[in-house]
Amino acid sequence: MTSFIGSNQGGLSFPTLTGAAKLAGVIGCPIDHSKSPALHGYWLSKYQIDGAYIPMNVEPADLETALNGLRAAGFQGVNVTIPHKEAAALLCDHLSDRAKAVSAANTLVFQGDGLLYGDNTDGLGFIENIRQYAPQWQPDLGPVTILGAGGAARGIIDALIREGVKQVTIANRTEARARGLVDQLTQAAVASGSMLQTYRLDKIDEPEGPLSETALFINTTSVGMKGQSAFDLSFDALPKSALVTDIVYTPLETPFLAAARAQDLTCIDGLGMLLHQAVPGFNSWFCVKPEVDSGLRAHILAQ
Ligand code: ATR
Repeated sequence: MTSFIGSNQGGLSFPTLTGAAKLAGVIGCPIDHSKSPALHGYWLSKYQIDGAYIPMNVEPADLETALNGLRAAGFQGVNVTIPHKEAAALLCDHLSDRAKAVSAANTLVFQGDGLLYGDNTDGLGFIENIRQYAPQWQPDLGPVTILGAGGAARGIIDALIREGVKQVTIANRTEARARGLVDQLTQAAVASGSMLQTYRLDKIDEPEGPLSETALFINTTSVGMKGQSAFDLSFDALPKSALVTDIVYTPLETPFLAAARAQDLTCIDGLGMLLHQAVPGFNSWFCVKPEVDSGLRAHILAQ
């Protein structure tokens, strides 16, 4: 950690960067709603690091040029978000196993040897959030049911398989997409002794359906995000011991979680996934493994 000159006005800390400051940031299109600058900014301030984390709006056609420019400018690396995750993975010289498995990267590191390394920490963020708020959860507690088959579902299912979950049921509005996801992840699932299956979304809550044996029920769809209507879904078939989680965190209490909570089910909101997925990147770029603490959560909620 570097000590450097800073000022403190009205309780806020305004560090002054030195010429040796470490630089990172997030690339997306659009980027103005990203919470990552506030998140990394909190840690930079907490750990008094001589560094900066900058939001950057980059059009898809400019991604490679932007990455080359950031490397030339001495950046340590960047996060990439929608719509760049798949394209970023293709530009990497090497990928972590989990980024390879989902063909998408969200955390890039410009290595000293000139190579670009890509990781995908979304699945890890999901698992760490569950572990933080439901330490009793274990992969062998029972099957998982997941709503949605987009990029977020892909990363989470890959992480669940790696953790040792033995059965995952995927229900998606577009069934062909769910089947495609099963095809994509089956090899990894078989290697881990896991079984993937699809189920009709409109029948997911029927009493004899997969919910009756589910230990962890996850919403990865955008249904319930601010302004969107909620699922018409019954939680009656779920065991009372089941955990329910939603990766949407705006609002924090989604209609999906509110309905589950009304049935006295244990619920975990999606904010922690965002916080935990950021840890490996910060650690790589700024050489400190940051803590996901209540202060960080409050700081992000106050944005
Ligand atoms: P992400 O990468 O965040 O997962 P995505 O790839 O756009 O985003 O996926 C969004 C998910 O939300 C998909 O599973 C989508 O279902 P489709 O594959 O049928 O599009 C799901 N979704 C979005 N709006 C939905 C709605 N109104 N009802 C049901 N599912 C919905």
